[in-house]
Amino acid sequence: TKKITIAIDGFSSTGKSTIAKQLAKELSYIYVDTGAMYRAVTLYAMQHGYISENHFNSEDLVADLPNISLSFTFNEKLGFAEMFLNGTNVEKEIRSIEVSKLVSKVAEVSEIRKKLVREQQEMGKNKGIVMDGRDIGTVVFPNAELKLFMTASADKRATRRYKELIDRGDKVNYEEILQNVQERDRIDSTREDSPLVMADDAIEFDNSDMGLKEQFERIMSLVNARI
Ligand code: C5P
Repeated sequence: TKKITIAIDGFSSTGKSTIAKQLAKELSYIYVDTGAMYRAVTLYAMQHGYISENHFNSEDLVADLPNISLSFTFNEKLGFAEMFLNGTNVEKEIRSIEVSKLVSKVAEVSEIRKKLVREQQEMGKNKGIVMDGRDIGTVVFPNAELKLFMTASADKRATRRYKELIDRGDKVNYEEILQNVQERDRIDSTREDSPLVMADDAIEFDNSDMGLKEQFERIMSLVNARI
């Protein structure tokens, strides 16, 4: 069998990372959650006062980019890689609603996208990788052997994200989550640089009513036809 590149794109909270992690495990591939990278840059911007709910100094953030170092470290116990920002584990902070509310603004900035896309392409240069995000099949790996585009109803997605946050003990309400999911989709789909669009050669997967097992089996058969 040969190693391939698997690109998974789609709207917020469509279960991209769940399926991507499973695929990577099954195939012994690297899994990269690119959303975590945009989230970590956003956390850095918040910590340094470059962004808040009502202001965004993107120029100063861009000037500070060389001081932002992102890395993933595999956690054996959890079975997936955790995000490190300048050497600190930020896995929990980057999933907060505060970061979720600002991340799409940060992800609009071309200079930031350029840096992260370069790093993502480097991680995938030897193939054997499953990467999820918004522009993987269109921009990061336009030649990926398998491109999936995940969709699900806004309600299903918000419910999923709501459960995740409640399970880890965050105080959030469902309305706030639903609004955030819809607002991010709107910004991500309409931005100028690398908007969220389905690649021409991507396969669309609506998993609103599909169980994880069925999804995984269907996708594995697509993979097996390509390796
Ligand atoms: O995947 P996740 O929901 O964690 O991504 C958070 C945000 O990061 C997205 O809403 C989007 O604004 C941005 N993003 C992006 N390009 C990617 C991955 C994420 O613009 N490849």
